[in-house]
Amino acid sequence: MSVPTIAVAAQAVKRIRNHDCWVFRDELLRPDGAVPLDSARGAALSKVEWAVQPGDVVEVVDPRGAFVAYAFANPVSHIALRVVSTSREVPVDRGLVEARLTRAIARRAALAGTNARRLVFSEADALPGLIVDQYADSLVLQIRSAGMERFRAAIVEGLQRQLAPKGILERSDKEFREDEGLPPVTEVLAGEVPGRILIEEDGLKFWVDPHRGLKTGFYLDQRTTRRRLRGVMRSGAQVLDAFSYTGSLGIVAAAQGAQVVCVEAQEPFVELARENAKLNGVERRLEFVAGDAFYWLDAKTHEAARWDWVLLDPPALAKAKPGILKARQALHHLLVRAFALAKDDGQVLLSLCTYHLLNLVEEIARIAAGEEGCRVQVRDQWLQAEDHPWILQVPPTRYLTSWLFARDARSAAWPTSTRR
Ligand SMILES: C[S@@+](CC[C@H](N)C(=O)[O-])C[C@H]1O[C@@H](n2cnc3c(N)ncnc32)[C@H](O)[C@@H]1O
Repeated sequence: MSVPTIAVAAQAVKRIRNHDCWVFRDELLRPDGAVPLDSARGAALSKVEWAVQPGDVVEVVDPRGAFVAYAFANPVSHIALRVVSTSREVPVDRGLVEARLTRAIARRAALAGTNARRLVFSEADALPGLIVDQYADSLVLQIRSAGMERFRAAIVEGLQRQLAPKGILERSDKEFREDEGLPPVTEVLAGEVPGRILIEEDGLKFWVDPHRGLKTGFYLDQRTTRRRLRGVMRSGAQVLDAFSYTGSLGIVAAAQGAQVVCVEAQEPFVELARENAKLNGVERRLEFVAGDAFYWLDAKTHEAARWDWVLLDPPALAKAKPGILKARQALHHLLVRAFALAKDDGQVLLSLCTYHLLNLVEEIARIAAGEEGCRVQVRDQWLQAEDHPWILQVPPTRYLTSWLFARDARSAAWPTSTRR
């Protein structure tokens, strides 16, 4: 197979050999192999001098011209190369994509208790830029890279052959495609995909709106959290589910007999959550508030309201590094409020998908607890669900972490050492 060649800087070669899979635009070398390509001029130079189009498969070589990997190239994206294969004998073609689809699907076969799961998770399944989610008999896919775009037909045929779904919907939203220079796509690619799909998870039922819902319709990555919240709440516990979307966390709580308030900014999602509550026969135990959770938490703090459980599952507070300061302030604000609103020994769940904040959460929580003047136990911590595996060498694939904090009793003396 003859494909264009792109030389990359030594540090990128080292990373690829250590199983990283991204090369950034400023790590590309000019065709003479020496000077790093000016990232601002990358697009124009790449097209003219290398004749590489977004989505082309290229051979990545080191500064001396030795083979390193095959990759999807996209000179207009800040991720210029996405490695697909590091073996010269394994070229990137339809057969490879189909084989990896088969393997990704087989890996999820043992996931029990649900008919909704992520079947393909992009780089983690060695299919860069491809997401495939299964909701009962329907599949929803997202294509987030120009390279994977070329394999759309092969992916659809492979999924039909292997899973015979009733329909396949593409939900390739703008936010994931802008950087790749791709237009958004929402289109039924095969069969029929209803406006609402009924799914089941551990005996609870949920409506999923694959056409207009967030992500591909449901927070499959929060299955671990739903499972951790089972069997831990007493009947009658007071639970606040802030940023509630489908209400899945609140419904898990209500199914244990808890009284739940769900707060969600978008009215259609409040309706969806209300229907989900009815579907599970717990509507009498849930109250819904359509509004801004930040303001609502402020108001409740002034009223000195208290909950046994405060569940915080905010949207991404920053999409990229430049937004980190604001995101940090927002998280600090949320945690100060949550600690204030928790009863003595009350628990605060934080699920965070703001990648650039994940390593800072404990520091932010410490400062927030200091401001609220309370001692906080960390009772547990977990990650995205197991059908969203992450790659050790590609840290951004670990994008969701949850913490379970507990507020020590307000009146309790701090435990002090008796050994002096
Ligand atoms: C990560 S999702 C929550 C998923 C939810 N826990 C579930 O299981 O379905 C975040 C939600 O927060 C909502 N949201 C965003 N900003 C908000 C705000 N300021 N106040 C309330 N809700 C907000 C979004 O509409 C979205 O539904």
